Amino acid sequence: MNTYVTGAAIRQLREKRGMTQAELADKIVVSSKTVSKWETAKGLPDITLLQPLAQALGVSVIELMNGEAITNRNVSGNLMRCRFYVCPICGNVMHTMGDALVSCCGVTLPALEAEEGDDDHTITIERVEDEQFLTVDHPMTKAHFISFMAFVTCDRMQLVKFYPEGNAETRMQLRGRGYLYWYCNRHGLFRRKI
Ligand SMILES: [Fe+2]
Repeated sequence: MNTYVTGAAIRQLREKRGMTQAELADKIVVSSKTVSKWETAKGLPDITLLQPLAQALGVSVIELMNGEAITNRNVSGNLMRCRFYVCPICGNVMHTMGDALVSCCGVTLPALEAEEGDDDHTITIERVEDEQFLTVDHPMTKAHFISFMAFVTCDRMQLVKFYPEGNAETRMQLRGRGYLYWYCNRHGLFRRKI
């Protein structure tokens, strides 16, 4: 996120809504010259104008600061299209059903992009009774560890949190088709289709 709203963000959001500078100015009771100054980096809106400006542009203040409007297209809430977010500062793990603007510890978090497991992040699945035993053979130190594993189908999610000094292993029932995710705090998110 920017530390303050930028002129480029105001212009982009205004043009997206098909508004002229004069139309935007009218809505928030400033002159069109003022809007023009903001958009050309010759001035910044007073902080008391952020809420009315965001409202006039049809976004939240956080979206205005971020410079983009977020629209969730996964309206059916299919969990297979879920997103994971991890805060790099406190390690908070968040999950959304679609696009969202997520922030933690003052940082706007990007949705993590999952990769196929590599040689250092391979998941092993063994059947044990009516469940599967899942293991990632990986360091589990405070500096470098597997933080969680999750199994997601279209309507269900199981998430298991791991901690340093423990083992990255758990038992889960992998029922149905879905994705198995695992996350390394240094190397990011991995996933495998089940
Ligand atoms: Fe790693």
